[in-house]
Order: sequence, then C-alpha cells, then structure tokens
Amino acid sequence: MEKVKVGVNMKNSQIEKNRIIQSIIPSTIFPLVFVAVMFFYYSQQLVTLNQWIATFVTAVLFGILLFFDIKRYDAWTRQMSIAASFLGVGSILLLFIIQFSGGNLNSIFYLTPIAAYAILIKFLVNERYAILSSVAIALFGAIIFSVSDTTILHVFLYLLLSQWFAIFIYQSIKDRSMLIKMSTSLLTVHIVMVLTFEFIEWTTLTTSQLLISILFSALSVLLASILTLGLLPLFEAGFNMLTESKLLQLSNPNHPLLRKLLVEAPGTYHHSVMVANLSESAAEAVGANGLLARVASYYHDVGKALEPHMFIENQHGKNPHDKMAPEESAQVILRHPYSSANLLREYSLPKEVIDIAEQHHGTALLKYFYYKAKEKDPTVKEESFRYKGPIPQSKEAAIINICDSVEAAVRSKDKPTNDEIRKIVRSIIYDRLMDGQLNNSQLSLDDLLVIEYDICDMLNGIFHARIDYPEDVNDSDLRRQKN
Ligand SMILES: [Fe+2]
Ligand SMILES: [Fe+2]
Repeated sequence: MEKVKVGVNMKNSQIEKNRIIQSIIPSTIFPLVFVAVMFFYYSQQLVTLNQWIATFVTAVLFGILLFFDIKRYDAWTRQMSIAASFLGVGSILLLFIIQFSGGNLNSIFYLTPIAAYAILIKFLVNERYAILSSVAIALFGAIIFSVSDTTILHVFLYLLLSQWFAIFIYQSIKDRSMLIKMSTSLLTVHIVMVLTFEFIEWTTLTTSQLLISILFSALSVLLASILTLGLLPLFEAGFNMLTESKLLQLSNPNHPLLRKLLVEAPGTYHHSVMVANLSESAAEAVGANGLLARVASYYHDVGKALEPHMFIENQHGKNPHDKMAPEESAQVILRHPYSSANLLREYSLPKEVIDIAEQHHGTALLKYFYYKAKEKDPTVKEESFRYKGPIPQSKEAAIINICDSVEAAVRSKDKPTNDEIRKIVRSIIYDRLMDGQLNNSQLSLDDLLVIEYDICDMLNGIFHARIDYPEDVNDSDLRRQKN
C-alpha cells in the first residue's frame, strides 16, 4: 500500500513539474520578445531608459498573470504551450514589423491582422486564455506603436476590441460561407472603430487619410482570415492538436478504425454510437466539450475489435468465458482500454481521445468475475480484478465512464420504464462516486445531477420511440390483404 502511495506521489509531482514548465514557457517567451523589441527602441533612442524599465515591469506583471491562469487550467497540454508561445511571439514580431515598416505613417496600426491571434488561440487553446492574453497583446502593441506618433489609447482599444469581437464573432471556422459572414461582421466593427477614432481628429483630417485608415482596417480583416485559415491546419497536422474541424473529421464513419470496429465487432460499434449520443448530450448540459465526448465515445472500445467474441455485445449465444477461469476472463476484459489506447496511438489520434479510451473504466472492479473467483477461492485479491486506470481526468472522460455503464445496463433490459431507467442511472452514478472514480473529473455534485437528468431524458426518448404501434401494423396488414 505504502509503495502505491509513493508511486502516486511521484507521479503527481511529475505532473506538477510538467504543468509548471508548460505554464512558464508561454507566459515568459512573448513578454520577453516584447521587452527585447522595446530594448531595440531604447538603443535607437526612441524610448528613454525609464520608459523601457516601465515596459519591462508591465511585461513581467502580465507574464505572472498568464502563468497563474495557465497553471489553474487542468486540461492544459504541451501542444497548447507550443501554440500559445508560437502565436504570442509571432504577434509581437508582426506588430514590430508593421510599426517599423510603417515609418511615420501613424495610421499603419490599422493594418495589424491581430484578430488572427485571438481566433487561433481560441480554437487551439481556449477562450479564457484568448481573452486574457489578448489584453497583453493589445497593450504591448499599443506601446510598440506609441514610438511613432500615435495615440496609445486608440491603438490599445483598436487591437483589443478587434480581438475580443473576433473571439465572439468567430464561432466555427469550418464552413466557408460562415467565415465570409463572420469576417464581414468583423469588418463592420473595424470601420466603426476607425470612424470613431478619426472623428476625434475630424478638424485636421483629410479624406485621403480617412480612406487609407479604412483600407488598412479592411486589409487587416482579410489578412487575419488568410492567416487563420493557413495556420490552423499547420497546427492540427504538425502538433496533432485537437480542434473542432479535426474532431469532425474523426467523426466520419469512414475512418479505418471505425470501419474495422463495424466489421469485426458490430455489437461494440452499436454500443459506441449509443454511448456517443448519450455522452455528447450530457457533456453539453454541463458545459463540457460535447463534440470531444461524441468522438471519444466512438473510439473508446476499438481495442475490442482485436478479440470481439470475448465481449457480450458481440456474442450470439456462445460465451467463451463459460469455459475459462474467472482470472483468465478478467485478464482479457481488463486489457481492452489499453489495447484501445494502443490502436489509437498507432492511428495517431489526438491525445485527448487516447486518454479517454484509457480512462473510460477508471480503476473499477470487474464485479462479476471477482465474485465468481471468490466463490472458489475466498483469498483472491480484489486488485487483480480492477482496471489499471487512471481514473477519469476530465469531465468528458467521466461522462463517458458513466454513459458506458448506463448503456450496457439499460441494453440488458427489454422495455425499461422511466422509473427503472432513473434507478439504473442514479445507482451507476452513485456507485462511481462512492468508488472514488469521479475524484479527478472536475464534475461537481450539481453537474452529476444535471448529467443524471439529461441521460434519463435521452433514454426515455429512445425507449419511447421504440414502442410498437399495433394499429399501424394491423393497418398495413389489412392493406396488404386488400391488395
Ligand atoms: Fe470499455
Ligand atoms: Fe464501452
């Protein structure tokens, strides 16, 4: 027991170490690049030493803020760190290049396609980090542009609002016609901002200056759209990052692994589709990623395709476990989450999907075979009938863990009533909770209640739809007889 505890502590300290490294890199690297750019301006005597020190302190403060934000986010991955660092550094350099090449043209800042930063961070990392880091980018940008004769507040507001509007306007970038609509909305916001800022200097403003500003801000939307469309697939492919379009691609039933599952283990395929429907709805009900839950459900049991007849959903009368020792049977069943994960690794599926496959049974006890073995030998160890885990580490993994068992339990009933369904769902959630399987899932008790209601609603709908309609049958029979 002590050994296990030491092992868990070592694993936890390793996770903590990794999380600190993953938080430090993105929160340090782009503020440092900004400090370097400002140092260059200092060396060119464009800013004073005091101003450089002030920007240095600002950069450090923002770095600390971003560090704590990332550290607090449990699902942060190495790929997210790479994307956040790369895009942060890229944006600062882009701001610098535009300012530097613009010379004395003080409306050049309108050209910055900074919305691309916010959109890419939103889709590759998360919305919260996009909102927070966009403030840093906008402030750093405003300071960079302030060396040419611009109003720092205008630049700051333009860069910030451009990014914030982009975060809320760009909800999905899969569909091209949607992208054009969203870009038009962003363009409108840009033009309103240009007119507002230029209106303040209305008396000295010439028409050509105004037109140049509007043209620059329109170009910035165009450049932002091109950058987003160009860079997103690069991150998806290069770093195997999880994005909406990648998930949609994986949900295609033509994926070789899903086809393999359908052909070799049709029962498991059907079970996975049912789990996908339940878990997507439950995940959305608690604000988790519904699409990830759906896709991960499709793939969670692919390992069963290696020995399909060993699993009840693919057996037709013959059960090989009848002739096997309970220990032997348990071994076969207990290895399927890991064989699923290995198959998914082989086919380069995203880490999030692989993790869910590995965690979908947590460290649950295989009760049936455990008690069967215990009947013969009371000294049998419980550990050898438990899955190796780990227990679910995300909301989506925990929801799939629950829906997986619910689907299996409900399937065994012929025509369950609403009450029976509620009892099954409640007892499964209670059982998982008491067994500690949901300890790392970040689900609150409130969430569990919402999940319970949602799953029951879905199942009631499914079973209601399955009720036979004898009148219809009779009608069609009658019609057939008449003909
Ligand atoms: Fe499973
Ligand atoms: Fe399953």
